[in-house]
Amino acid sequence: MRIYLDSDADLGLLQGRRIAVIGYGNQGRAQALNLRDSGLDVVVGNRDDIYAKHARADGFHVSPINVATAQAQVVLLLIPDEVTPVVFEARIATQLLPQSLLVFASGYSVAFEQLTLPSQVDVGLLAPRMIGAGVRDLYVTGEGFPAFVGVAQDISGQTLPLVLALAKGIGATRRGVVPVTFAQEAELDLFTEQCFGPAFGAVLTTSINLLLNAGYPPEAVLLELYMSGEFAYTLRKIAELGLVEQAALHSRTSQYGSMSRGLRFQIPELRERLRAGLEEIRNGTFAREWAAEQAEGAPTLAMLRAQAQEMPLYQLEQELREALGSIAAASPSTQSQSSSELSRRGPWSMLRAGIARCLQRLRRPRHPRSTPPTPRDRPPSEAPTPSEAPTPSLTSPLSDGQLRRTLQTFLENASCDPMLQAFAAGRHVTTYYRFTDVDLAFSLGFHDGHVVGSLGNETEAQVQLTLASITLDSMLTGTLSPVRAALSGEIVFDGDPRLAMTVQRIQKDLVRLYSQARRQVLQGSDNA
Ligand code: NAI
Repeated sequence: MRIYLDSDADLGLLQGRRIAVIGYGNQGRAQALNLRDSGLDVVVGNRDDIYAKHARADGFHVSPINVATAQAQVVLLLIPDEVTPVVFEARIATQLLPQSLLVFASGYSVAFEQLTLPSQVDVGLLAPRMIGAGVRDLYVTGEGFPAFVGVAQDISGQTLPLVLALAKGIGATRRGVVPVTFAQEAELDLFTEQCFGPAFGAVLTTSINLLLNAGYPPEAVLLELYMSGEFAYTLRKIAELGLVEQAALHSRTSQYGSMSRGLRFQIPELRERLRAGLEEIRNGTFAREWAAEQAEGAPTLAMLRAQAQEMPLYQLEQELREALGSIAAASPSTQSQSSSELSRRGPWSMLRAGIARCLQRLRRPRHPRSTPPTPRDRPPSEAPTPSEAPTPSLTSPLSDGQLRRTLQTFLENASCDPMLQAFAAGRHVTTYYRFTDVDLAFSLGFHDGHVVGSLGNETEAQVQLTLASITLDSMLTGTLSPVRAALSGEIVFDGDPRLAMTVQRIQKDLVRLYSQARRQVLQGSDNA
């Protein structure tokens, strides 16, 4: 194990070298201030925006990115990864002094070959494992923070010592610096964001939904699971003491319960999903997908963000946070609109009202159940007599046979629908739908102007959805957003998320065609 500390780094190597910090955002500001406070010569390169104003206000000399680059022996690239390739090609690559050192804070652009490195410069990596605000705060307190370092090109033979000197300058060697390759840094970072984080998030939201449906008070559920900060505190103790040692901080009941029940959560499918996610990162699939998404203006990201904010859980969280914060901080001097309402109605009554609203949304049935239950809902002993047999409403849940006939008609009509054919032009995407409660599956594909739908076994599909028939019915009658269903776990999703999102563009047409087919089938049953 190799970890570099203060004693392994020599700040003197940077004396006489000007450092240009390119970008003055989260990392840029923190690193520039720390390096200057470590006695180094720092200038800032930034476009003319609010960040440039902040840098000037902090007393830095600020020039355009190309100018600052051309004047420095060390260039720290601290702009967002998604703009790095374009800015690098246009304003940095040709301005770098020969023998200078170019330093990235993330391995992404180099690891996934988003840019071409000039051959005459050293290229290093200094990637703090800390957000920008922490980089600054922990430098000021003297504690420091960990970081990864790496070398992609070493023309001078001095790249690693110089990067370690920078790591010391920003305060990272106080805690410890770990050497990695650019690819390792980028892949680990993406794995945490795309696999570990979402898997953990899914455990959290599944638990919240389960406990709410079991009738526990929502404010107690959120506080218990994470909003009290107890869980975050435990994670901090795990970081300090280790997984096993921190167990001693918990009661014996807790130790026995979590260790004995923990065995049940060693789920092979989870491991398989994490492995598939890692593979997609390592073989560059994700980087290509993200580059294509950005080239189109990131429509999928916008859609996902909007849907996440529509989730009842998100709204419940907001209400609870606001109410808890307001209860702690409520004072006559803070008279925002909500706080004046607070003083009128009292914080707890507002909290309860907000929670009741959110719960209603969380538990709202998709199909109004005012219509009598269908044979599928009713136990055989309660089968209706012919005289009391209900007239099926057009919003009634479908029997298995009705669902099959609806899908058949829907797929037939879809294959000759002009709107869907127009969408299919120049595309290749098939979605395969498999039901969890009915022995039925179907696929719908868009291929070069042709729409191909069929009931039956799995075809080659880029997107696979596993869901209950009521979920599909709700989605295709327009009462449930597919993205929201996927985010809340009602759909088990597999395949290419971006392709899946493109199908969202014709969601209205799918709803139109399915609803038509559904009405046709129900009216047919009615007349029969
Ligand atoms: P940021 O979003 O805070 O960057 C803002 C800066 O980028 C501003 O100075 C702005 O003028 C400049 N900028 C934005 N778009 C630009 C464009 N099109 N052309 C020219 N300049 C532009 O970036 P952040 O979060 O500080 O990330 C910088 C680097 O640090 C990235 O490589 C990131 O992966 C890495 N990093 C970030 C961490 C964080 O805490 N945010 C943690 C560890 C590494």
